[in-house]
Amino acid sequence: RFPKSVSIREVGPRDGLQNESKFIPTDEKIQWIDHLSNSGLNYIEVTSFVNPTWIPALSDAEYVAKHIKKNPDVTYAALVPNTKGLFRALESGIDEVAVFISASETHNKKNINKTISETEIVLSEVVKESISNKKTIRGYISTVFGCPYEGNIETDQVIRLADSLFEMGINELSLGDTIGIANPVQVKQVLEQLLKRYPADSIAMHFHNTRGTALANALASLEMGISKFDSSLGGLGGCPYAPGASGNLATDDLNYMLTNMGIETNIDQKKLNAAALYIQSKLQKPLDSYSVKYYESQ
Ligand code: HMG
Ligand code: MG
Repeated sequence: RFPKSVSIREVGPRDGLQNESKFIPTDEKIQWIDHLSNSGLNYIEVTSFVNPTWIPALSDAEYVAKHIKKNPDVTYAALVPNTKGLFRALESGIDEVAVFISASETHNKKNINKTISETEIVLSEVVKESISNKKTIRGYISTVFGCPYEGNIETDQVIRLADSLFEMGINELSLGDTIGIANPVQVKQVLEQLLKRYPADSIAMHFHNTRGTALANALASLEMGISKFDSSLGGLGGCPYAPGASGNLATDDLNYMLTNMGIETNIDQKKLNAAALYIQSKLQKPLDSYSVKYYESQ
C-alpha cells in the first residue's frame, strides 16, 4: 500500500538556517553539510542564491556551495529566485535549481517583491536558462494549504501554478505547507486533484510542523503514493516572510517512522542523530525533533 522506498530531500541547510537569527559560521555550515552528505541522504538543498540583505543567514552561499565535499550519490540543490541567482548558482557548481512561487498573491509579494504573474515571467526565464545549462529543476509552490495573510487558498490556484511550472519545464514539484496549517484530509484532497494530472513521482511534499501535524500529513501523502518528502534535520526551519511559520518536518523523526514501517530510505539514523547534535551545539539552542530529545535522554 505504501511506496517501497522514499527519497528524503534534506532542506535544513537552506530552510533551516534561513530562519535562524544566529549566523552559523561558514566553515561550520560546510562541516554540517559534509555530515549530512555521509548519512545516506541522496538530496540536500544547501543554500539560497537570493538577495543576501533579504536572507543574511545565507549570505555565504557561493563559498558554501563551492567548499562542501561532494558525495557523488547526493544531488546538491539551491534556491534561486531570478536569473541573477541562477548565474550565481551555476558558477558555484550546483546540481539542481529550485525555483519558488507562492499560491498567495500577498505572500508572494512579501517574499519576493513581485506579483504572481511577474514571478511567472521571471521563473520561465530561469527554467529556460537552467535547461540550456543541463540542470534539473524543482519548483516549489508555497502556501498551498493556507496563507498567513490571505487565509484559505483555492486548490484551483495551486493547480494553475503547477501547470504553469510544469509547462515551463520543471522536473519535480514541491508542495509547501509554509505555515504548517494543513491536515491529512486536506492533504489528500489536494493530492487527489494533482495526481489526476501528474505522476506521484513528480511531486514532493514540504511540510512545516507549526501545529504538530507534519508527520500525520506525511503519512496521508504516503497513502496517496507520494515517495518524496522535504524535511529538515532536528525540525529546524521557517520562512522569515511568513509570520508564524515554524520548523519543517524533522528529517530524523520522518526517517525513524519510515524505516520502522519497512520503507527504505537508505539513511543511517545514527549518523542523522550525530549531525543533529552537531548543528544543535553550533546553534546553542535545543532542536525540536523528538528523535534529538530521545537520543539525548539515553
Ligand atoms: P528586489 O529588491 O525586488 O530585487 O528583491 P531587484 O531585482 O529589484 O534588485 C534589487 C537588488 O537586489 C539589486 O542590487 C540586485 O542586484 C539584488 P543593487 O543594484 O540594489 O545593489 N539582487 C540580488 N542579489 C543577489 N542575488 C540575487 C539577487 N536578485 C536581486 N539573486 C528578490 C527580489 C527575489 C531578490 C528578494 O525578494 C529576495 O531575495 N527574496 C528572497 C526571500 C526568501 O529567500 N524567502 C525564503 C525562501 S522561500 C521559503 O522559505 C518557502 C519554501 O521553503 C517552501 C514553503 O515552505 O512553502 C521554499
Ligand atoms: Mg519551507
